Amino acid sequence: MILPVFLYGQPVLRKEAEDVPEDYPDLKQLVANMFETMYNADGVGLAAPQVGLSIRLVVIDGDVMRDDFPECKGFKRVLINPEFLERSEEEVAMEEGCLSLPGVHEKVSRSKTVRVRYRDENWEEHEELVEGFAARIVQHECEHLTGHVFIDNVSAIRRQLNKGKLNSIIKGTVRCSYRAKAVGK
Ligand code: NI
Repeated sequence: MILPVFLYGQPVLRKEAEDVPEDYPDLKQLVANMFETMYNADGVGLAAPQVGLSIRLVVIDGDVMRDDFPECKGFKRVLINPEFLERSEEEVAMEEGCLSLPGVHEKVSRSKTVRVRYRDENWEEHEELVEGFAARIVQHECEHLTGHVFIDNVSAIRRQLNKGKLNSIIKGTVRCSYRAKAVGK
């Protein structure tokens, strides 16, 4: 089932998300719905707060980026209660967007590699070193679980330049090709 994507301005995107308990009801169905919602919107990652749930769950499929970023080939993951064990000091700046901020694209600096520990939808624990654009997706999505969005990382001037777009997202007048839920509508 395709879920509505909560847009910038929605309070749920500003909340610190809670750990997912092992007995969370219909977890696998939720994961399937989040993948469906993400694919429908041509996204490569989606965090639970973006579908209105303040829980520490992220889905990612970077495979569509494989031609430009080989490290994304087959990089399909469900990250439950993810934790960063390491983030490289070396950072890379690259343009990002977000399904909760349609039409907004800005360069963001992120660690080049991260080591992350998480559980999957079968509750198996994983520890993984992630690199390049895949590491960027992981960091972008996990940031959603802390009550932040990517635009928080850009300079005040760049944010100011996006003010009009951000206001139209809040008002619900932004053009969006997928089901979305703005504050103003
Ligand atoms: Ni996002």
